[in-house]
Amino acid sequence: MAKLGHTVTGIDVDTRKIDSLAAGEAPFHEPGFTELLRSSLASGRLAFSANMADAAGHDVHFLCVGTPQAPGSPAADLRYVHAAIGALTPFLAGPDPTVVAGKSTVPVGTARALADTLRPTSPNVTLVWNPEFLREGFAVQDTLQPDRIVYGLGDGETARGGADALDRVYAHALSQGTPKIETDYETAELVKVSANSFLALKISFINGVARVCDAAGANVADLARAIGLDDRIGKKFLRSGIGFGGGCLPKDLRAFSARATELGADGLADLLDQVDRINLSQRAWVVSLVTHGVGPDLAGVPIGVLGAAFKPETDDIRDSPALAVATALATRGAAVRIYDPAAGRVLPTDEPGITVANSVESAVRDARAVLVLTEWDEFVPLDPTDLADLTTGRLIIDGRGALDPARWRDAGWDYRGLGTR
Ligand code: UDX
Repeated sequence: MAKLGHTVTGIDVDTRKIDSLAAGEAPFHEPGFTELLRSSLASGRLAFSANMADAAGHDVHFLCVGTPQAPGSPAADLRYVHAAIGALTPFLAGPDPTVVAGKSTVPVGTARALADTLRPTSPNVTLVWNPEFLREGFAVQDTLQPDRIVYGLGDGETARGGADALDRVYAHALSQGTPKIETDYETAELVKVSANSFLALKISFINGVARVCDAAGANVADLARAIGLDDRIGKKFLRSGIGFGGGCLPKDLRAFSARATELGADGLADLLDQVDRINLSQRAWVVSLVTHGVGPDLAGVPIGVLGAAFKPETDDIRDSPALAVATALATRGAAVRIYDPAAGRVLPTDEPGITVANSVESAVRDARAVLVLTEWDEFVPLDPTDLADLTTGRLIIDGRGALDPARWRDAGWDYRGLGTR
């Protein structure tokens, strides 16, 4: 927003993050973000604070807090949304028209309830629900050039003013022709969870087909390429492998299923639950490939794992399939050594059976099996002959369909993919 010319204050309760951001240091790995942060700080239009009073006086307040899965339930945990709104409300009582723009992913019905809560104390505040679609690893690009902008508007007279204020915020993207959809709160909330659930559905569909390919002797990678050329299907999100993870797809899928059940849409809830089940079963499939290759007793078996983040170009390990597989192997007694180019520094160092390595070489040294579980660019060109000099076994499991099977087989490796040949 600062890059686009707006004057921005970023507020968080986490003072460690605020201090780091204010010093121009990104508290996470995101390509292009540090440069953008530093140039925006230097422009004087960006500041950070842990004091909500510093939010006062701005025309628009973006609510961007997380809505993780609630402990012991599939539903979303809204405590941070309520805490942020509660802390902001005292600064919204003035006479000037102000907009609160909700970016957090919330269960349908949340925005209307929040608007009802705000109305008595903050009559000049307009709530707009404005879901966020950025992808980790592409966050800068997706923010500066979004593929769509959605406004969920309330019914009151001020709704138009809220939309107009956001039009000024997004003037640059709108002038570039970014499509904008104005709708009601409920639809805007559902757009976000539907989008993420549909992406998850595509991935679990292809992973389900990968099982059939594996049993029937077919190749899911060729199949995905062929069906993806039909533009009604599209080629994206048909990469089979160990499944989806991260801070969004898994918890949005579960929260949508929980809300669908509450609203009586059992068919959709069943479909979403099945998507989740297929996804989680991919992790067990990888473990079975390991035991098939090195034997059922994994006690003390050295295994090299390449990749820990839930996808490349991020250090995010939330609900990471790669880490879940590594942990499952360690739980069965394997001596797992794991390397990730970015997530290494955030991996827990006290996980029994898991050692964090600082290079591919040290992760795979003496390993009986090597697993590629996050498709970092660094892993794709690895030389199978060089690696074979370091390992004791020749089992390579390609959990992301990232490697060239022929290249590894020609070098004497037992290459195993998930439905690839
Ligand atoms: C997702 C949505 O894409 C984004 O629009 C939303 O705002 C936030 O959630 P993100 O969590 O960054 O973004 O990850 P995404 O790129 O969607 O990937 C999610 C997971 O699916 C990753 O674990 C990835 O490895 C996996 N994936 C993706 C596959 O297994 N196969 C594919 O073909 C694509």
